[in-house]
Amino acid sequence: MVPGAAMSAASRRLAGILLILIPTVAFGGTSLLTLLINDPRYTENALRQDLWRAGHAHAGVLLILALVTLRYVDEATLSERMKHVVRHAIPAAAILLPAAFFLSVLSPGATEPNALINLAYVGFAVLSVGLLALGVGLLRNRP
Ligand code: HEM
Repeated sequence: MVPGAAMSAASRRLAGILLILIPTVAFGGTSLLTLLINDPRYTENALRQDLWRAGHAHAGVLLILALVTLRYVDEATLSERMKHVVRHAIPAAAILLPAAFFLSVLSPGATEPNALINLAYVGFAVLSVGLLALGVGLLRNRP
């Protein structure tokens, strides 16, 4: 892809999907707000509140990071297969980390996260692979 040229169809399609998904994070934010205001049991469980706050925050920030990386992936010197990996790694992390944070403490009385918290480590690995590959691909693009 020529630098400065339009986005590839694959990146454009994924960008559209990500933009449509961002309101779900905003809706999650309204749910947290309602819990904070109306549900005293929610603030009584500090661990659950911390993890759910982190779930919302990481979903939003990682979706936006995924959008940002789509602006760069077409200009990276990477095989089409690696570009596919990069395009999907950051959105995958945007699902895996919040899934770990929300689903590991679903019960209001949870005193420790269940095994699903391990998805956070998988998300970390997937995120790191995608970001490192994109960074290296951009450094390899020397016109
Ligand atoms: C794409 C949009 C959004 C992004 C990227 C985003 C991001 C974040 C981040 C990074 C935090 C963590 C802040 C911290 O702990 O210092 C946070 C917390 C929070 N957000 Fe959002 N947010 C979004 C939309 C919304 C919306 C629309 C609402 C409600 C109307 C909302 C309600 C909240 C609440 C209540 C917290 C605090 C939760 C707590 O402390 O327990 N967010 N958000």
